[in-house]
Amino acid sequence: MSVLKKAFIAITVSASLVAATASMAQPASSEKHANRATELRQSIFKLLGSNMGTLGAMAKGKIALDAEVVEKNATRINQLSLMIADYTRTDTSKFDVETEALAKIWQDPTHFSKDIEKLTLASANLIAAAKTNDEGAIKKAIGGVGKTCGGCHDDFKKD
Ligand code: HEC
Repeated sequence: MSVLKKAFIAITVSASLVAATASMAQPASSEKHANRATELRQSIFKLLGSNMGTLGAMAKGKIALDAEVVEKNATRINQLSLMIADYTRTDTSKFDVETEALAKIWQDPTHFSKDIEKLTLASANLIAAAKTNDEGAIKKAIGGVGKTCGGCHDDFKKD
């Protein structure tokens, strides 16, 4: 199967998963539950940050561009994007947890799902670009992923 076809299938599957899981927010049942859910949620975003850091440095020319590393990290980002819905489902907004997440995540799940989907699509696009080994296309696609991170942070994360 072609790479693009695989990527397309991944996108289609993830989009339907996102649609199916939207609006299924579950309020945390206790402070302990809220703290645990917050830790897991932040773990996903920490891993996204860890994988994106290298890509950002490559896009800015701070370190040499390596298409294999780009493909590996973009694949991880794509897979992590598919976990965001599950790991943000527990609504922790009624508890005093240390978080930068805005309660809007659970108030506007359709919008939040759209922002997740943008990351899924942009990272699939970066996987495809990495396979072409075209430096310009790869840097552009890294920028495309970065935009979706920033877009969701503008909407759903405290400054
Ligand atoms: C769909 C929305 C969304 C997308 C997409 C998204 N983020 Fe975030 N991000 C958040 C939210 C919400 C938080 C705050 C989580 C919390 O504090 O509970 C966050 C927190 C973070 C953190 C801080 C984690 C910590 O607790 O130390 C980092 C780093 C981060 N994001 C990086 C990224 C990167 C890099 C990308 C793109 C590859 C990305 N995020 C994409 C919503 C998003």
